[in-house]
Amino acid sequence: MLLPPRLRRHICCCLCFHIVSSNLTPDSFFSFFNLQVVNGIEIYSMKIDSKVTSRFARNVITSRAVNRGNMHKEVFFDVELPKTAFITNFSMTIDGVTYPGNIKEKEAAKQEYEKAVSKGQTAGLVKASGRKTEKFTVSVNIAAASKVTFELTYEELLKRQFGKYEMFIKVKPKQLVKDFEIDVSIFEPQGITELEAEGTFITNDLQNVIKKTFSDKKGHISFKPTLDQQRTCANCSQSLLDGDFTVKYDVKRTTPDNLQIVNGYFVHFFAPTNLPQLPKNIIFVIDISGSMSGREIEQTREALLKILDDIRDDDFLNFILFGSDVHTWKEKLIRATPENLDEARKFVRGIDTEGMTNLYGGIMKGIEMLNAAHEENVVPKRSASIIIMLTDGQPNVGISDTQDIRAHVKKATEGKYPLYNLGFGYGVDYGFLEKMALENKGLARRIYPDSDSALQLQGFYDEVSNPMLMDVELHYPENEISGLTKNSFKHFYDGSEIVVAGRFVDINQNRLTANDALSFTTQQDAEQTAKAFQEQEYIFGDYIERLWAYLTIEQLLEKRTAATGEEKENLTAEVLDLSLKYKFVTPLTSMVVTKPEDYDNQAGIADKMTEGIDIFSFPVSVCSFPSNHPSLLIHTVDGDPHFIISVPQKEDAICFNINEKPGDVLSLINDPVTGITVNGELIGDKRANSDTKTQNTYFGKLGIANKHLNLKVTVTSEKITIQNGNEKTAFTWLDSVTLQQEGLTLIINREKNLVLSMGGGASFVIVLHQVWKKHPLQQDFLGLYTLKSHKLSEQTHGLLGQFFHPIDFTILEIHPGSDPKKPDATMIIKNKELTVTRGWQKDYRKDPKHGVDIPCWFVHNNGAGLIDGVHTDYIVSSLF
Ligand SMILES: *[C@@H]1O[C@H](CO)[C@@H](O)[C@H](O)[C@H]1NC(C)=O
Ligand SMILES: *[C@@H]1O[C@H](CO)[C@@H](O)[C@H](O)[C@H]1NC(C)=O
Ligand SMILES: *[C@@H]1O[C@H](CO)[C@@H](O)[C@H](O)[C@H]1NC(C)=O
Repeated sequence: MLLPPRLRRHICCCLCFHIVSSNLTPDSFFSFFNLQVVNGIEIYSMKIDSKVTSRFARNVITSRAVNRGNMHKEVFFDVELPKTAFITNFSMTIDGVTYPGNIKEKEAAKQEYEKAVSKGQTAGLVKASGRKTEKFTVSVNIAAASKVTFELTYEELLKRQFGKYEMFIKVKPKQLVKDFEIDVSIFEPQGITELEAEGTFITNDLQNVIKKTFSDKKGHISFKPTLDQQRTCANCSQSLLDGDFTVKYDVKRTTPDNLQIVNGYFVHFFAPTNLPQLPKNIIFVIDISGSMSGREIEQTREALLKILDDIRDDDFLNFILFGSDVHTWKEKLIRATPENLDEARKFVRGIDTEGMTNLYGGIMKGIEMLNAAHEENVVPKRSASIIIMLTDGQPNVGISDTQDIRAHVKKATEGKYPLYNLGFGYGVDYGFLEKMALENKGLARRIYPDSDSALQLQGFYDEVSNPMLMDVELHYPENEISGLTKNSFKHFYDGSEIVVAGRFVDINQNRLTANDALSFTTQQDAEQTAKAFQEQEYIFGDYIERLWAYLTIEQLLEKRTAATGEEKENLTAEVLDLSLKYKFVTPLTSMVVTKPEDYDNQAGIADKMTEGIDIFSFPVSVCSFPSNHPSLLIHTVDGDPHFIISVPQKEDAICFNINEKPGDVLSLINDPVTGITVNGELIGDKRANSDTKTQNTYFGKLGIANKHLNLKVTVTSEKITIQNGNEKTAFTWLDSVTLQQEGLTLIINREKNLVLSMGGGASFVIVLHQVWKKHPLQQDFLGLYTLKSHKLSEQTHGLLGQFFHPIDFTILEIHPGSDPKKPDATMIIKNKELTVTRGWQKDYRKDPKHGVDIPCWFVHNNGAGLIDGVHTDYIVSSLF
C-alpha cells in the first residue's frame, strides 16, 4: 500500500477561519472596525505547529479569537486536513476553561450528535471531501469580551514521492491576523539532504519572510508575516494569505535501509537508490463511451500524447479502447521504438468517442494481451507489467455486474500485474474501481473534471512510470515479531519508499536483524536509535508505536474496502479497537465535543470520510475549490415539488417549495448559451377540487430541449418521447434502453429512472415515482436531478438553474420554532435576512420508494428572497 504510491500523495491542510455575526452587512464588514477586527471579533493568533520525526508528522493548529463587540457572537473554526491524516485531538478553551473532544465509536457519537441537533442546537459536522482534503468545522458562541482558543491535532505519515517527502499546507485565514505563524520542525535520524519551502501566495516581498535552516538531522521552517506583510496592498484589509504552503525534504541514504527501534516497536524504511530501471509493459485501457465526449476525451488525448513523450525505448505498450465494442491499436504489445511512438501518436490523435461502456471487454482484453505477451516471450522476462484503465462511466455492455467483473479480472490477472483504475468525474462507480484495483495490487485514483485533468492523468503516470524492483518482500524473524504491517510489494518505484513497521513479541527486545529480498542486511538496536535521537528535544517518545498504529489502521481499512461477511466484520472490529486505543478519528470513529452549558450545550463532531463519493452521495462538497466546482453540486427538484439546493462550502442545503396550480409550467433551467432548457408541468392529486392551498402538486411532465440541436425530450410518468427535428421516437417506462445519437445519450432504467446527457455533457436524472394505482389521491410523478451542471454556461437561469452559480449563506440565531422538532433561524443570503426552518426533504435517487432524508434550511413562501424575482416570474406558457 505504500508502493506504488498511493491515492493521495500530498500532505495538506487548509486553514479557513471566518466570523459571522447577526448584523452582518457588506459595509460594516471591512470598514467600520479596526482593520483586523471583523464585526467585533478579532482573530489575534493563528499557529500551525508541525513536528516531524522520522516521516511521522504531528500537526497542531491553534487559533485564538476575542469578541471585542458588546454582544454574543458566533465564531467558526474551519480547517481542511489531508485526507490521509487522522485527527487525534481537538479542544476549545473559553475564558480559561478547556472543553476537550472525545473519540467515540461512530454510532455512539452520531446519537449524541443527533440528540443535540434535534434539540435545535447547532453542531459542526465534518463530511466535506475535496481533492486532497477533508473539512473540519466547529462553531461556538462567545460572550462580549470573551476569548476562545481552538486547538486541533492531527497525525500523518509523510510518504515519499519523486524523491521527496512533501507537506502541503493550504492557508486561508480570511482576515488579517496579528500573530500568524507556520512553524515546522523536522528531525530525521538519517540526516536531511535538502529542505525547501514555498507558497503559491508568496510574493517577492514575502519570500524573505520564509526562514529555512537545516543541518545534519534537524530542519526548521518558519513563516511569520507581520500584519502589514499580510495585506494585499498598503492600507488594504484583505489578506494575501490564501493558497498552498509546501514543505519538501529528503534524507541521506548511505544504505538503502534504515531501521529504528523504540519501546518495543520498530520501523524499517527501505529505499534503494541507483538501481537500473526495469523495462515496463504498459497497457492503457481507455473508455471511449459517449459520456467521454467533449472535454474529457480531449484531455485524455492530450495526456496520452504527453505520456508517449516519456515512454522509453525499451518499454512495450498498447492501447485498448472500449465503447460499445473493444478496439485495440495493435494485436500485441509492441516496443516503443521512435517509429512506433510516431504511429501511436497518430492513433491517439484519432481517438474518438462512441457508444456505451463495455468496461469488462476492455479490461479483459488488456489482461489477455499481457498474459499472451509473457507466455510468448514478446516482452523481456525481467520487466514490470502495468495496466492503467481510465473510465468515466459504469459498465453497461458485456458483463455489467461489477462483482462478476471483479471475479473475472482477479482470476485472470492472478496477482501478476498491478491494475490502476482512474475514475474520471463523478459518474463512475468509484467503489467498484477501488475494490477491483486493490484486489489486483494496484490502486484507484479520481481524476477531477477540471482544466487540469490532463495534468492529473500525466501526474499519475509519472508516479508509476519508473519501476525499479519487482516482487519486493521484506523478511523479519517471524517468532520475534507480531503485528507486522504489509511487507510484500509488487513494484518499487523510483523516488518512493517502502515502510514496514512491527511490534516485538517481547517488549524488551531491542535488536533486530532484517534480511530483505536484495539481501541487504540491516541491523540496528534500540541504543543506536536512542543515540540518534539524543540531540533532539522535541521528539514525542511513542512516535514509532503511533506510526505503527497509523500504518496498521490504514492498511486494515484498505483491506476492509474489498472484504465481505465475517472477514469484514473482523477487520472492522480490529480497526475500531486500534482507533479507540490510539485516539484516531477514522471512518469508524468520531470525535464529539460537548460545549459548555452556558453556551447552549452544543455539540460538534469530527468525522472521517471514506473515499467513494459516487454521483448519488449528497451533499458532496469541496472547501478548497468551493466556487469553481459547481459540477459537485447536485441540485434537485422532486416531491410536491420541492427544490433542494446543495451548498458545498457549508456542507448543507437550502430547500423551498413552489405552490402553484396543476397545469402550470415552471422554468427550471434555461441556458441561452448551450440552448438547453428544462421546464416542468405541474399535476395535482386526483381530487376534483383543485384548491391549491390544500392540494399538493408534483411534476407530471418534464420537457428538456436543446434549441441548437433541434432536440426535444418529453418525459411523463408513462412515456418518454424524443423529437429530433421532424423525427419522433417514443419509449415507455417499461423499456430498458440505452440510446446514443448525435448530441444525446439516453439511458432508461426500466420503471426506475432515466439518465439524459445533452450536447456538451450536461446531464439530468429523472426519477419515476410510482404510487399504488388505486391510491385515492396520489398519482405517479417525476423528480429531476442535475449532474454535470458545470457544463452549462454562466448565464443559466431558471428556478433550479440560477443555483448553478456559487451561493453562500450564513445561519444565525437558531431558536425554537412552531414545530418543536424544527428550529427556526435567520439566514443571511444575498444580503437579505430570511426566516428559515430546519427540516428535511427527501432525496429519492437511491431509494425511489421511501427516499433519503436530506437536512436543509427551508425557505418559506415559495422561496421568496432566495430566488431571483418572485416565483410567478418562472411560470412559462408551454413545455417548450
Ligand atoms: C488534547 O488537547 C488538550 C488541550 O491541549 C490536552 O489537554 C489533552 O491532554 C490532549 N489530549 C491528548 C490525548 O493528547
Ligand atoms: C494609509 O492610511 C494612512 C492613515 O489613514 C494615510 O496617511 C496614508 O496616506 C495611507 N496610505 C496609502 C498608501 O493609502
Ligand atoms: C474472525 O474472527 C474470529 C474470532 O477471532 C475467528 O474465529 C474467525 O476465523 C475470523 N474470521 C475470518 C474470516 O477471518
